[in-house]
Amino acid sequence: MSQKASHIADIRRDYRMAALDEVMAGDDPLMLFTTWFSEAETAEIEEVNAMVLATCDAEGKPHARIVLLKGLDAKGFIFFTNYHSAKGREIAANPNASLVFFWKELERQVRIEGKIEQVTAAESDAYFRSRPAESRLGAWASAQSSPISDRQVLEDNFHKYQQQFGEDIPRPDHWGGYRLVATRIEFWQGRSNRMHDRIRFNQTGNSWKKERLAP
Ligand SMILES: Cc1cc2nc3c(=O)[nH]c(=O)nc-3n(C[C@H](O)[C@H](O)[C@H](O)COP(=O)(O)O)c2cc1C
Repeated sequence: MSQKASHIADIRRDYRMAALDEVMAGDDPLMLFTTWFSEAETAEIEEVNAMVLATCDAEGKPHARIVLLKGLDAKGFIFFTNYHSAKGREIAANPNASLVFFWKELERQVRIEGKIEQVTAAESDAYFRSRPAESRLGAWASAQSSPISDRQVLEDNFHKYQQQFGEDIPRPDHWGGYRLVATRIEFWQGRSNRMHDRIRFNQTGNSWKKERLAP
């Protein structure tokens, strides 16, 4: 192994900040997620709402990328993107998906699995309106995930739509929100000696069943 690679193998950290037990976890994983999210905000974690979104294409091949959590309600976890992007096409072919948060400052990971659905046009409109004008123009200018010859294509598109719309930039039909409706949520709290705490909730009918997993 090269010197660089062997150095990577030596990177390790012991986790000692906190614990998670069955009582602390409670009976409602969305409530526990909300608590952990607020604690991550209080800890001033940067990009606290950044999460890995994993989807599968029609052939079952997985693809993962970061997106930003933009809402959480009783139904699920909301993010916004281009419906014609690679992820949009994957979700259309296979709605099963998963999200991962890693809040390293709190030695915590949350894994969420379920099915993705589109949010309503009204929900997408409301969020789109709240975005800065430049971001709204960006949604028009970028055919997300399509190969382009160079950066100039993007800049030209941006200016074209800026001229076309002026101040009043509508939401493109191909841009909007998705909601992941969770059926399984796992909370991981790092512990000493790799003896981590893992509590997983599985949805059964209208309620959640809780189990502890070996780390
Ligand atoms: C911190 C961060 C936040 C991001 N947030 C979003 C987002 O909310 N929506 C989005 O479409 N892409 C977001 N991206 C870009 C995606 O990771 C990805 O490059 C893009 O969505 C295209 O993915 P796809 O080709 O798999 O569809 C973000 C990237 C980073 C690094």
